[in-house]
Amino acid sequence: MTNNGRAASKTSAVSNNGASANGARKSAARAAANDRPRPHYARFAHIVGWGMAVPERVLSNHEIARLVDTNDEWIVARTGIKERRIAEGKETTTTLSIESAQNALEMADISPEEVDLIIVATATPEYSFPSTASLVQDAIGAERAAAFDLSAACTGFIAALGTAAESVRCGSANIALVIGAETLTKVTDWEDRGTCILFGDGAGAVVVQGSDVPGGIMSYLLRSDGSGGNLLTLPSVGATRPGGVAGLLDHTIDMNGREVFRFATRAMASITREAVAMAGLSMENIDLIIPHQANRRIIEAAARGLEMPDEKFYMNVDRYGNTSAASIPIALCEAVEEGRVRPNDRLVFVGFGGGLTWGAIAVHWDVTPPEVSRWHRLGRQVRYGLSRARSVGRRVLRRVEGAVFGMQAPEVEPPHRGKK
Ligand code: COA
Repeated sequence: MTNNGRAASKTSAVSNNGASANGARKSAARAAANDRPRPHYARFAHIVGWGMAVPERVLSNHEIARLVDTNDEWIVARTGIKERRIAEGKETTTTLSIESAQNALEMADISPEEVDLIIVATATPEYSFPSTASLVQDAIGAERAAAFDLSAACTGFIAALGTAAESVRCGSANIALVIGAETLTKVTDWEDRGTCILFGDGAGAVVVQGSDVPGGIMSYLLRSDGSGGNLLTLPSVGATRPGGVAGLLDHTIDMNGREVFRFATRAMASITREAVAMAGLSMENIDLIIPHQANRRIIEAAARGLEMPDEKFYMNVDRYGNTSAASIPIALCEAVEEGRVRPNDRLVFVGFGGGLTWGAIAVHWDVTPPEVSRWHRLGRQVRYGLSRARSVGRRVLRRVEGAVFGMQAPEVEPPHRGKK
């Protein structure tokens, strides 16, 4: 790797031609990526369960055409989106996360107590803290699980799944719950026709389990280019903006659509190729690509870039729009449901988005979900009820303890600061 890097930088130093220097840099980067050692782990990380949850309310293009100057034909032609779901009332990123997590655990026939790690990828949490993951952990009664949220915009699910797989493979967790969840319609500018047509709400989850059997998640790559951060933004609590915290209510998604489009088509094709090579496979070995569902035209352009037929790319963007971190797990659930994913298939999950960030994961899909008995289902429902009761009980106990013992600071010896 170092040798290749040195040779390439020498070439660019002697050349006065900017274009060839750029070419040399690119080929050096490619060589470095190809020379990257393939990781060897003692364990393998398999996806053993999956589940999704979307809000009831469907918002059609026709309804959006009543809000801004647009129409169904334009939106379908430029994006492939026909409708999306929007969270209403008590539906939040947390409630959608919980429902998708419970569905994934159900599919895997795994109890919440067995879960070691929960990661929620989201750009639209209810709170900066507590994390959505901690709220999920409490709601499902995953008593021994570590929990945190992860922010990588629409690449979030890839980052979360890759992180979970690494934790499982190195042995720090055996079972991980990975959730991508968003309520983007809450931060959508409903007067901006360039963005309000694109986004939707939902959640998807997978259960990752460690095993000695080879297979499962075979490669994981993640990239970032912060110089393009301004192309797709959603300001948050720390943003300096007139109005301070009150101004937060105005924080909405801003996007340079054309630039994001150009970036996305290039990034998707290149990272897919790299992840496939890293898994020791070639593109011909790939049965299905499950891409981030941002726009039908982006996916079709990436398919052309990879010289693969559109049929090898799963798409459901027409029904959900862009659900950011939730889009890949939702698409996975529907692809399995429709029989597009079969045992022994080689899959690629590929995402891109704000940051700019992009990433891909190659998977050997070798799981047949277990038959789950009615009693197991019932048992889990009872456990979820008990978790809720336990959570309320703990809160009450904390209040009682506070009232009885007050807020007395523990007596601590001051650190020794030397003789006066
Ligand atoms: N309805 C009708 N016309 C619209 C419109 C809408 N919803 N949105 C934009 N237009 C108009 C523009 O005002 C412009 O008009 P003008 O030529 O008179 O100025 C025209 O359509 C073309 O605009 P442009 O922005 O070039 O359109 P486009 O073909 O690039 O499509 C997007 C716009 C947003 C659909 C497209 O750029 C896109 O999908 N980008 C990627 C976005 C994305 O996926 N982001 C998330 C990544 S995770």
